[in-house]
Order: sequence, then C-alpha cells, then structure tokens
Amino acid sequence: PVMLLLVAVLAYLLGSVPFGIVMARLFGLGDLRKIGSGNIGATNVLRTGNKPAALLTLLGDAGKGGVAVLLARALVGEDAAQLAGLMAFLGHCFPVFLRFHGGKGVATFLGTLLALSFPLGAAACLTWLAMAAAFRMSSLAALLAAVSAPAWALWLAPNAVALCVGLAALIFYRHRANIARIRTGDEPKIGKK
Ligand code: G3P
Repeated sequence: PVMLLLVAVLAYLLGSVPFGIVMARLFGLGDLRKIGSGNIGATNVLRTGNKPAALLTLLGDAGKGGVAVLLARALVGEDAAQLAGLMAFLGHCFPVFLRFHGGKGVATFLGTLLALSFPLGAAACLTWLAMAAAFRMSSLAALLAAVSAPAWALWLAPNAVALCVGLAALIFYRHRANIARIRTGDEPKIGKK
C-alpha cells in the first residue's frame, strides 16, 4: 500500500509536467495560454505553426503517461499500472504546477493506453488519426477516440474497460468548450490558426 501510494503520487507529479508550456518557452513561442484555444496541448502548440514543438509536446505528454504506467508495473504490478495511468492523466488535466489549470488529457490518454496494452493504445491512436483525417478537428478526433476506447478495450484488453470508461468521461468533461464549438460549427480545423 505504501508503494502504491508512492507510485500514485509520482505518476501524478509526472503527469503534471506541462510539456506544451515547456516547449513553447524553449522554442520562444510565448505564453501558450494566450494563444489559440489557450490549451496547453500539442494541438494548440501546432497553432503557433511550430511543428517540431508540437511534436515534442505530443511525445512528452504521451510519454509521461507511458512512463508512469511502465514504472508502476515494474515497481508494483498491473493494478498499480492502471492507477498510475489514471494519476498521470489527472496530473495533466489538474497539474499542481499550474494551480490545477491543465490540459484536456488526450496525449496522456494515448500514451497511457499504449503502455497498458499496446494493441489497445494502437487502436485508440489509429482511431484518432482516422477521425482527424476525416473531420480535420483535433478535438472531435479525440472525443471519438475516447468513446471508442472502451469498445476497443472490451476486445483487446478487457481488464482496462473500466479505466477507459473513466478516462473517456474525463476527456468529454475537459472538452466542454470544444463540444459547444463543434455544435455551432465554430471549432477550428487542424492546420488553421
Ligand atoms: O488535445 C486537445 C484537443 O483535443 C483539443 O485542443 O487546443 O483544440 O482545444 P484545442
């Protein structure tokens, strides 16, 4: 139990590292929260036009979920791995370093799933890519990848179904503003500012 608590706290702190803010600063792009949607994720970094910074944000935010899961699995076991994924995700969305005003969790969700079950993570990533190609909206692709995740898990990683349902619900909650814009047709398309 002590190890489990330690792993949970560590995963949360790891998840709290806002790679978007870090990359925007490193690349001299200014304060990400004053750009585009104001979100701290890779999609919003891309709105600055800096693709390497956006890619590094995606890899960092996904990687921290993956690393949290792999660390927890190595140190404790499979239940801890799921808890660590959830905590890293919560860290990204409600980071202690940004006074709990964080991101929408999509990259961390994908990295977590990839580490928990590679087939499940790959299915979620491919769903995101296919939906992004079809609709050209990062948020809509994320929402569709999130709703499909429990179904993919049912098939590919049954012990991760509950986690996927929880993460999908949180992703929808974090995308409230995006959902409102999608409904009114105001959500920006990928590649536009
Ligand atoms: O990863 C977040 C994405 O789904 C939406 O980001 O900046 O368009 O609100 P944004």
